[in-house]
Amino acid sequence: MKNKNFAAVYPGSFDPPTNGHLDIIRRASHLFPNVIVAITENSAKNHMFPLAERVKLMKESVKRIPNVKVVSFEGLLADYLAKTGSFVLIRGLRAISDFEYEFQMALMNRQLNKKIETVFLMPDQAYTFLSSSMVKEIAALGGNTKNFVPLCVEKKLKKQLTINKLQITIKR
Ligand code: PNS
Repeated sequence: MKNKNFAAVYPGSFDPPTNGHLDIIRRASHLFPNVIVAITENSAKNHMFPLAERVKLMKESVKRIPNVKVVSFEGLLADYLAKTGSFVLIRGLRAISDFEYEFQMALMNRQLNKKIETVFLMPDQAYTFLSSSMVKEIAALGGNTKNFVPLCVEKKLKKQLTINKLQITIKR
């Protein structure tokens, strides 16, 4: 990549960031001069952490990767890309089961703006089973998430679990 200002955008809801996301970010940071992790709401999901919290957790998680910036955006991804002038999207593909949704999203984004290209990266096979929703379920049921998420996320999940338990106790 000749232009050192070039940035690829890695969008997602990252609720919360996992080691699988970080693996993709590291791979992208080796391929592109700059990577923008763009965090937003996914209207199809009920988020555990508010957007500002997810941004904070992601910033903490990538602080040692120099060419990565974390931002949040609202509205259509295609509009965000048009505003920033970065038209290369990164998405992680873990398994065939991801493909249909990702394929649909990539083609829809291209339909919205023909400049948009989506590049799929495969995480290390150690992360192919990993998802934010599974991590949340494990945490909620008192399981250990240490091997699946960055330390700051592990701590946050534990704290959130304590708050949830307290709220249940107070309600009773
Ligand atoms: O990590 P996720 O939840 O799979 O990421 C999905 C995300 C946030 C990238 C997608 O829902 C999105 O782009 N949302 C912004 C609104 C939008 O542009 N929707 C049309 C997508 S084709």
